[in-house]
Amino acid sequence: MTARAQIGVTGLAVMGRNLARNFARHGYTVAVHNRSYAKTASLVADHGDDGDFVPSESMADFVASLARPRKVVIMVKAGAATDAVIAELIPLLEEGDIVIDAGNAHFPDTRRREAELKAHGLHFVGTGVSGGEEGALNGPSIMPGGSPESYEWLGPILEDISAKVDGVPCCTYVGPDGAGHFVKMVHNGIEYADMQLIAEAYDLLKQGLGASAQEIGEIFAEWNKGDLESFLIEITADVLAHVDAETGNAFVDVVLDRAEQKGTGRWTVQNALDLGVPITGIAEATFARALSGSVPQREAGRVLPAESGAWEISDRAAFIEDVRLALYASKVVAYSQGFDQIAAASAELGWNIDRGAMARIWRGGCIIRARFLNRITEAYERNPELSLLLADPYFTEQVGQGVGAWRRIVAQAALNGVPTPAFSSSLAYYDGVRAERLPANLIQAQRDFFGAHTYQRIDKDGVFHTEWTGDRTESDA
Ligand code: 6PG
Repeated sequence: MTARAQIGVTGLAVMGRNLARNFARHGYTVAVHNRSYAKTASLVADHGDDGDFVPSESMADFVASLARPRKVVIMVKAGAATDAVIAELIPLLEEGDIVIDAGNAHFPDTRRREAELKAHGLHFVGTGVSGGEEGALNGPSIMPGGSPESYEWLGPILEDISAKVDGVPCCTYVGPDGAGHFVKMVHNGIEYADMQLIAEAYDLLKQGLGASAQEIGEIFAEWNKGDLESFLIEITADVLAHVDAETGNAFVDVVLDRAEQKGTGRWTVQNALDLGVPITGIAEATFARALSGSVPQREAGRVLPAESGAWEISDRAAFIEDVRLALYASKVVAYSQGFDQIAAASAELGWNIDRGAMARIWRGGCIIRARFLNRITEAYERNPELSLLLADPYFTEQVGQGVGAWRRIVAQAALNGVPTPAFSSSLAYYDGVRAERLPANLIQAQRDFFGAHTYQRIDKDGVFHTEWTGDRTESDA
């Protein structure tokens, strides 16, 4: 077997298959392998026209068909399957070869694998790939981590097959070891928040205006022409317009209201708790999915009194505009929080992640691609150290214009008994982060009272404790 393939893909379910086809369409000779050969054979039979595939039945032949340094993309189900493939690969590879995990791995696993492979003289690249099946085939957003050296070999190929916006690839080196999968995880967290915010906007329009799915779809289609333009808004308009063939009803009206997840949103929230970064929009979005699936609680909860008012909307257009502005503002909060989480992890783990570059590679290919990511890129280019995206002058102004609308919507939702956890918590975050003084002073006093946990004062340096049970004198702690 001549070692002529420039890149290999093992794991040919739909994502792996489409990535392999994407490489082939860009002129690369692609080694392909799957645990059962039938999938490999059908890829070559159905899509041989895409380019030059080198199919192998065994892992050994697959590895032998690759030119050095070998570049092997693993596209299997995240978890034990990835470890099994890696274990099979290690004895077949040689120093300097590069193993790429393109699945949705949890970043601590990527860190562990990277260290293990390094001990064998191998590079391990954990890379986020976003864009679903369509993206994998036609140009995803790619977030590779690993050694800078591995990126020298791999980067040009990945940039080549990635989506392009204004000719700029949606792929760049993210940072060492788990950085790529970390950034993909936060991408997914933002995806959850974005989807929940869109769902809340839909619910408000439905309940507030009594609008049909068709009508709401038209509103979203209109919104997609402005600042909110994004893949998720676009597909929402599409989904809302879809009619169920069986019943003739709007498709969304026949879909069961229980949202599921594969777990990346949960990881994002768990990590944010560890880092102490408030990603309230993402957390509420994740919990909203959990609430939707809490069947016994929802059944029991139906008896709870609403004590809510009735919607009184005199100006339909003004209400729609308020919802749009509240959606935009809440969305900026979700991104602002997500980028804070990236900054915190990057500082803690020494990743040196360039947030502007992350916003740039999210402009195309991925699920959260959106027009306003251009603005986020510019904000971090203006100030790479920006400590709060919301405080970038552009976003301060844009969000500022919608604050009144945002308050009206959250207030109306509460008065009318419509749950808007992501809208509400995003507004609460906005008010929290801009507050001169928060009631955390009282919490510190309480902690000192019952546990001598100490506090600081606003008028002098130091750490203090008050003798609450004694004469209440204050001492340096
Ligand atoms: C992407 C998506 C994808 C994710 C699905 C399902 O960027 O292409 O994030 O990776 O797995 O969207 O996610 P949930 O099942 O968790 O909703």
